[in-house]
Amino acid sequence: MAERIVLNTDIRKGTINRNIYGHFAEHLGRCIYEGIWVGEDSAIPNTKGIRNDVVEALKEMKIPVLRWPGGCFADEYHWKDGIGPSEERKRMINTHWGGAVENNHFGTHEFMRLCAMLECEPYINGNVGSGTVQEMSEWVEYLTFNGVSPMAELRQKNGQEEAWSVAYFGVGNENWGCGGNMRPEYYADLYRRYQTYVRNYGDNKIHRIACGANSDDYNWTEVLMREATRFMDSLTLHYYTLPTSDWANKGAATGYGTDEYFNTLKKALFMDELVTRHSVIMDKYDPDKRVGLIVDEWGTWYDVEPGTNPGFLYQQNTIRDALVAGLTLNIFHKHSDRVRMANIAQTVNVLQAVILTEGEKMLLTPTYHVFNMYKVHQDAQLLDLTVDSPLYSYEGAEIPEVSASASVTAEGVIHVSLCNLNHEASAALPLELRGLAGQPATVSGTTLAGSSIDAHNTFEQPEAVVPQPFTAFKLEGNKLTVELPPMSVTVLAITPG
Ligand code: AHR
Repeated sequence: MAERIVLNTDIRKGTINRNIYGHFAEHLGRCIYEGIWVGEDSAIPNTKGIRNDVVEALKEMKIPVLRWPGGCFADEYHWKDGIGPSEERKRMINTHWGGAVENNHFGTHEFMRLCAMLECEPYINGNVGSGTVQEMSEWVEYLTFNGVSPMAELRQKNGQEEAWSVAYFGVGNENWGCGGNMRPEYYADLYRRYQTYVRNYGDNKIHRIACGANSDDYNWTEVLMREATRFMDSLTLHYYTLPTSDWANKGAATGYGTDEYFNTLKKALFMDELVTRHSVIMDKYDPDKRVGLIVDEWGTWYDVEPGTNPGFLYQQNTIRDALVAGLTLNIFHKHSDRVRMANIAQTVNVLQAVILTEGEKMLLTPTYHVFNMYKVHQDAQLLDLTVDSPLYSYEGAEIPEVSASASVTAEGVIHVSLCNLNHEASAALPLELRGLAGQPATVSGTTLAGSSIDAHNTFEQPEAVVPQPFTAFKLEGNKLTVELPPMSVTVLAITPG
């Protein structure tokens, strides 16, 4: 088969939900504390304790939704510990993550302020594992009830007169593991019970999110859909990409060889199969696709940086991570009929972060640049596209060399995102633009490429990997031939004539 990309510019396949570009921030390592929250007395420029530089960068990237407070932390979090005068809040040990002291200075009010500053939707994850129905129900009341009630009064006493609006609420996290080690049958019943008391107050309509499967645990999805479909608006899925199959030796974030590079990309591509298979099960119980699939934890997970707390999950981020981000977002687009939200783990200083900080210094990772380049796809219409990709082989294994996706904005601008996974060879292939009245009026592009297999940004060299203008294309009629550099993520903007 000829290697090419065929793009039917006149066949639209639905909206790419902007929430696919969502993020996740947990009380883990230096994500919340240091990464987002520095406190009002900090010398680091902040607004009411929240770092200005981080807010600015996340806003630039158009962060649409932020999940908080965990993760595993969510099922140990008691929200009342994080309200009221900060000096009176409980200090405790974060047993899950590195034994750090949690002073609860960042709580509900601070999170809601952060979301307001970011102009993004809050996605709050409630506690099923160690919390009560009453506790969860009262949190929702505290957040969203505008009448006379004990929780509304408490909120007002703590300085917030008006209820907030909260669209997304998760009922537990990883309840098959750190959230209580439950069987799916047991969790399904608990889910039905807890969600009953996650009330809609006034105009606030909550999208109820049930805890979904770990990776390829299809039985979990089957049981949850069989027992609880009518009580949920979405079901989640968690999948992390490790270079190896050994959690004790996952592989390093930098300084790796071609084998770990290749394996990481191969394993990231597995997201397509996962989403396909979980969707098939969901289709059986929900053929109208009312229930969304939310991939609210995804991304790379490596060994921590040498010398850092193993419980803080701090890792560097290279061009390999940029490719994982680019190809995964392309997969989510393809499945946007079912995938309505995704949240990469985790925003700052943890796992596949978009931002790293060191004291007052901040850098944008290659993953950040991909999210920033791809933001043009948010809420755009997915276009029909087929890729007959060259193959990328390594030691007998093969994966497609090119991952691609395309969408059209309300203004009619077509964007095509293209990843060349090959670590040493450019990918040259024609992109046939079908369904256009004439030749495109303009074509422009931006590319993010690696100069070495682990190219990354450091605090000394924060701009080693940054987007550059892309000009390696030739337009002949409606055929656009592109030459994608090795290890690159490219986004083209095509304006029809
Ligand atoms: O993102 C880190 C951890 O990974 C989360 O707390 C948990 O939900 C998952 O296992």
